[in-house]
Amino acid sequence: MREIAPKLLDWYDRHARQLPWRVPPGSGRADPYRVWLSEIMLQQTTVAAVKSYFERFTALWPTVEALAAADDERVMAEWAGLGYYARARNLLACARAVAAEGRFPETRAELQALPGIGPYTSAAISAIAYDQPETVVDGNVERVVSRLFAVETPLPAAKPELVSLAETLTPQQRPGDFAQAMMDLGATICTPRNPACAICPLIADCDARAAGIAEELPRKLKKAAKPQRQGIAWVAVNDSAVLLERRPPKGLLGGTLAFPSTGWDGSTAPPPLNAEWRSLGSVTHVFTHFSLDLDVQITRSEDAPSRGAWHPLSEFAAAELPGLMRKVWQRVESEIG
Ligand code: ADE
Repeated sequence: MREIAPKLLDWYDRHARQLPWRVPPGSGRADPYRVWLSEIMLQQTTVAAVKSYFERFTALWPTVEALAAADDERVMAEWAGLGYYARARNLLACARAVAAEGRFPETRAELQALPGIGPYTSAAISAIAYDQPETVVDGNVERVVSRLFAVETPLPAAKPELVSLAETLTPQQRPGDFAQAMMDLGATICTPRNPACAICPLIADCDARAAGIAEELPRKLKKAAKPQRQGIAWVAVNDSAVLLERRPPKGLLGGTLAFPSTGWDGSTAPPPLNAEWRSLGSVTHVFTHFSLDLDVQITRSEDAPSRGAWHPLSEFAAAELPGLMRKVWQRVESEIG
């Protein structure tokens, strides 16, 4: 077992990133609500993208009770653009469960019983908010550990091995700071390309560095190319309104406000209005499992639609749409001004 914690914590005391959900190194526990909210937002999303959303959410809803009392649609609108919308639905369900209970639980097992909290997030909250000696392994930490121990097994098969190795590093003292120090080391020094080994506090502990293979790790199995799918998005407008629908709660962009469209799996659907539709060309969006080309078609109409509802343009904010639908709207705006 190697003792990297003292060196890493010493480095963190001097170099910790200042992030809106953090307390400074050594100053103890952060607010569990802020830790939880940040960790849900940071699943699948970068620190840079999350910061402004986090600031807005905590300004609007400073406590878990405040968030629990929020309107679903208000929260979906504020989440718009962050992606992976199931997170926003679980966020509300979790806030309501915690508010009903009166507080966030401290143990991993209890945390994992809440909506949207899996093994990673339960460990992160338990370590960062309650300073429990839990091991937190995100993509940054996987990279750091694979290098420290020169793990040659490719991801994703290497995950269990990397978690076991990471567990051997977690200290009893300041485990929350240690978890965030590992993340910061991965984000700022032990980067995927051109790791800054010369200034790394763990250079003497790193097997991959010694073997000259730091930058090659972690090895990864080649991913299959994403399938390319096609569909149509229909944008109906008139002088005062735009046609939108709320997507079903389950499935892609579940619960978000969207322009009516065909299915995105090759299935067809009739347009929401009988009208002359004109194509503006397509927009492309990359989802986790496929890439989508949506042909943007517009029409001018005031008729009653077969699906969706007319929304007053005066209340319409493209920022409340998910990224794909913003792209559709941008295409329309560049056409009609
Ligand atoms: N990524 C996920 N959680 C994080 C945290 N608490 N600090 C920095 N990056 C993170």
